[in-house]
Amino acid sequence: MVAPSKANLEDFFKPFHHFGGGWNPEEQVLPPQQEEEQTPGAQVNEPRGSYTGGAYGVGAPPPPPQAPGAAKKGADASAGYNKPGEGVNKGEGLVVGFYDKSCPAAERIVREWLQKVLKSNPYATANIIRLAFHDCAVGGCDASILLDAVAQGDKVEKGSIFNGVSLKGADLIDDLKMRFEEECPQTVSCADAIAFSANEAMAMSTGVRQRPLAGRRDSVNSLATAADQNLASPTATVDQMSEIFRKLGFNAEEMVVLLGAHSIGTAHCDLFMDRVYNFRNTQKPDPVLPLPYVDQLKGICTDPGTPQFRNPPVNFDETPYALDNLYFRNLVQNKSLLLSDSSLLGDARTGPTVRQMADDDMLFRKRFAELFARLTSFNVLTGNNGEVRRTCRSTN
Ligand code: HEM
Repeated sequence: MVAPSKANLEDFFKPFHHFGGGWNPEEQVLPPQQEEEQTPGAQVNEPRGSYTGGAYGVGAPPPPPQAPGAAKKGADASAGYNKPGEGVNKGEGLVVGFYDKSCPAAERIVREWLQKVLKSNPYATANIIRLAFHDCAVGGCDASILLDAVAQGDKVEKGSIFNGVSLKGADLIDDLKMRFEEECPQTVSCADAIAFSANEAMAMSTGVRQRPLAGRRDSVNSLATAADQNLASPTATVDQMSEIFRKLGFNAEEMVVLLGAHSIGTAHCDLFMDRVYNFRNTQKPDPVLPLPYVDQLKGICTDPGTPQFRNPPVNFDETPYALDNLYFRNLVQNKSLLLSDSSLLGDARTGPTVRQMADDDMLFRKRFAELFARLTSFNVLTGNNGEVRRTCRSTN
């Protein structure tokens, strides 16, 4: 069996060259995906393995993207936590309804667009939520991640080892931006296009709906080295991740809640193969992983060699379209794909929150929605700073 080396991690992350809310100001907890139209078809977005990998395999019949059971309980999820607006990332200058006059259909456009996209790509919500994190964590939510090139000629964020081929969703934002341009030319920024679609993706996958804050403007810079410094690898330790989140204004508890995003979407086998086959060069699996789980993963992440199966994506949990607490419930049983996620359970700073979230799905969804709104308001450009790009791939 071949375990991933740093070299093939780098290979996996190698860059693409051709790229194909505020703090709950008006939060409502709604049953997710009420419109029949929103249920996507059974197709998944390829290239992905065509295996049928059981509950975790992408080839398994996709469950609907609804978040079942959302909005049933009404606990005050924010009790005991930071009040909105505390911390360093206050999102000054952003308002709800920023486009109410200049582009009144903006939020509706996003909703209808995403409903349509989900029919052919039920992982679009996951793609977009990760894209938003990777944009915001690197210098702020300014759409710097979408630039294909910058005037200075530096390597852009898309070229970072942490983005590259694993970054999905940039093309989706191109498409959304085109809709905005048709409806209200040169009005809605690419940074708001990311934030609006991420907010909608969050609403559709958690069932917690809140109007997005808006007024972000787009940066004219993008640097791969900044992404290298502000994103983390799948083997990151709690210390390394905490440092990243500290810079974003989040404490350890908040970091754990946000990492609950790994309840949706997939991770590729290459990124955790060593945990399954050759943990720390022992030729054995990571001892914390339950053996039936190891066997299940071996069934999906087969020995590299057959090109089709070389590096399939694997669903993080059995409900890959629902941003629910199953990720945490699996984690307390030591079932996780990434070593970075696995490290959360045993650490005194993060373990208690893992257990708390595993115990209360509604609390998790509500907390996630609050914190995600803060994350997507981090270090924004507003007013006359930056620009509103005409196309998201290049500066004006
Ligand atoms: C700093 C700690 C984090 C690390 C080390 C990390 C690492 C990863 C890795 C390795 C993958 C799999 C990529 C692939 O195989 O294609 C992934 C996927 C994902 N991550 Fe994270 N992540 C972190 C934080 C976050 C945060 C804070 C969010 C959102 C709030 C997030 C959202 C996602 C989502 C939604 C996916 C699935 C993407 C898809 O299926 O398209 N991650 N992450």
